[in-house]
Amino acid sequence: MIRIRDLVHRYSSDTAIGPISLDLPAGGVVALIGPNGAGKSTLLTMVGRLLSPDEGTVEIAGLDVHRAPSKQVARIVSILRQENHFVTRLTVRQLVGFGRYPHSGGRLTQVDEDRISEAIDFLGLTDLEQRFIDELSGGQRQRAYVAMVLAQDTEFVLLDEPLNNLDMKHAVQMMKHLRRAAEELGRTIVIVLHDINFAGHYADRICAMKDGEVVEFGTPAEIMTDDVLTRVFDTPVRVVDGPSGPLAVYY
Ligand SMILES: Nc1ncnc2c1ncn2[C@@H]1O[C@H](COP(=O)(O)OP(=O)(O)O)[C@@H](O)[C@H]1O
Ligand SMILES: [Mg+2]
Repeated sequence: MIRIRDLVHRYSSDTAIGPISLDLPAGGVVALIGPNGAGKSTLLTMVGRLLSPDEGTVEIAGLDVHRAPSKQVARIVSILRQENHFVTRLTVRQLVGFGRYPHSGGRLTQVDEDRISEAIDFLGLTDLEQRFIDELSGGQRQRAYVAMVLAQDTEFVLLDEPLNNLDMKHAVQMMKHLRRAAEELGRTIVIVLHDINFAGHYADRICAMKDGEVVEFGTPAEIMTDDVLTRVFDTPVRVVDGPSGPLAVYY
């Protein structure tokens, strides 16, 4: 479980995120939604211990992520940030290998090599594994970063807008892969999504943020309503019955 208590980050006197208190159950997919600037990335980077809170605590599987040794934290939680992905002259396989660092300390064992191959295969990158990162399309590169995070092989996986740059096919494939990771490997996946219909279809829980606060947390059935979505996104949204569940329509 991810246990968030009274979490606050202040960027300036007029921009603060929180206080946020929230329990995210272990197992399954949680979608984090909300308009630009709502505080999704700030929350996720605090949970992933890349940003220190000004107040409050985050516990993951009983570990206080801002106090525990970082090596220990890196074995239970991995995070893909929204930006600052480094683009260097590394091959896809080398990049994904970085995900094993908390386990290998830089010297890859056969187990590490196997995990790297699995993650590369999982994201459909086998044919590209010897290509350099700076020679990939935006979507291919995005998949390589997700593979790196999955290779870290942590129980908790935090992904900030991993569908950016992906075409329809690869976006659907990635969501299916992530669901499989949750169902078959028991991972807990927290994912920032812009497409509310992806959230409604693939997530077990949806957490909606607005103006630095969590304003709704519930099942897709509870969140996918005209009223909630119109309020969260501050624009008219209608939810209709789609072929496989509720579908948000907005033009
Ligand atoms: N590094 C920063 N310095 C100052 N303000 C920031 C910084 N990062 C984010 N903010 C502000 O914090 C608020 C939340 O941002 P963010 O967490 O990135 O939202 P989201 O991911 O939901 O779009 C916004 O008002 C944003 O302008
Ligand atoms: Mg963001």
